[in-house]
Amino acid sequence: MKTLDRETTETAAASGLEGVEAARTALSDVDGERGRLTIAGHDVEALAARAGFEDVCALLWDGRRPDAGEREDLRRALGRARRQAFGEIAGLGSALKASDGMDALRAAVAHLTVPRDEREGMVHITAATAVFAAAWCRIRAGLPLVPPDPARTHAADYLNMATGGADQAAGLEAYLVTAAEHGMNASTFAARVVTSTGSDLVSAVVAGIGALKGPLHGGAPGLVLDMLDAIGEPERAAAWVEAELRAGRRLMGMGHRIYRVRDPRAAVLEKAVEALERAGVARARLRLARATEKAAQDALAARHPERPLRTNVEFYTAVLLEAVGLPREAFTPTFAVARVAGWCAHVAEQRRVGKLIRPSAAYVGPLSAPDPDDHRDGQ
Ligand code: COA
Repeated sequence: MKTLDRETTETAAASGLEGVEAARTALSDVDGERGRLTIAGHDVEALAARAGFEDVCALLWDGRRPDAGEREDLRRALGRARRQAFGEIAGLGSALKASDGMDALRAAVAHLTVPRDEREGMVHITAATAVFAAAWCRIRAGLPLVPPDPARTHAADYLNMATGGADQAAGLEAYLVTAAEHGMNASTFAARVVTSTGSDLVSAVVAGIGALKGPLHGGAPGLVLDMLDAIGEPERAAAWVEAELRAGRRLMGMGHRIYRVRDPRAAVLEKAVEALERAGVARARLRLARATEKAAQDALAARHPERPLRTNVEFYTAVLLEAVGLPREAFTPTFAVARVAGWCAHVAEQRRVGKLIRPSAAYVGPLSAPDPDDHRDGQ
């Protein structure tokens, strides 16, 4: 970890620790200048084209792509754990009745007791996150729960449990692969800070869920759809975007702390939506999204020539998750269904570091006032 002088500390705090290296990690590298995301030695584009969520879990948890037998073992283990988590729903009280999906997920995951074995704990909490997020979708819609089918892949089963069908599972698979891991983002950092105190996996994941909920992190994709709905027609995009920026509001799905070019994950997800488009799904939405993306990037480039603000992952996430049939309220919980794999890997990595994360703060409050009862100075 870098040692910072006072001036650097103040600058780092003011800029949200931008550029500060808070850990050494073998899990992923986010190259913001070139727009590249490497997950444990693999480009995200290549992974999304060839790997499934189980492969990414194995890559993050074991450090290498699984062979066919290992992939099958992990698929079965996740399936068994989903079935077990489904059996735990009855004991969750009112957790899954919360109106916000992330509140529900946070409360439900907090109930878990996971196996002490590190690997089994990861499998259990990853499976349970999907089961609880899907169950919340059903409860919210007033529909009966759909039990897990351990024979399916994790992506297909999550989609089936949440929507009652898995026709578009390939699109969701691409999303889960793409969103599973992304450097020292806020929720991952939160999970690592909790782990660094010697706390447990469930507490770390609950912290991750809390951080992911915010609109500046994972809470944006539903808001992207609200924006597209408000724009309505491609021809209205430029005027709408201008009015929004004039009113001092942010455009959802645009800008990123690290990327100064288009987020590579946006390209992966756009490709996944294009596959759906070829199958006759989401055509009008994609046309509107493209027009909005162009209008937003043009307007932001004119306003901030000094700071490239380009499309981030949330933009095409919104279009893709809608196209696979998930309701927009489930978008951020679905982000957690993917990212929990990364949180688990970071928890394991942080445990091996074994060092408390405890930065300092530059005190800018008042100096201590003289104690009115202390008359020694005058005597
Ligand atoms: N729309 C409009 N203006 C934006 C913007 C957006 N999406 N993102 C950044 N800006 C502007 C800010 O208003 C600020 O302008 P100012 O200096 O005139 O006040 C400038 O760009 C820098 O913004 P800042 O908040 O310091 O950048 P950041 O790196 O801390 O922010 C995000 C990164 C993601 C939080 C930010 O881009 C954002 O709020 N995006 C919208 C929400 C979103 O899509 N979140 C998902 C993230 S994956």
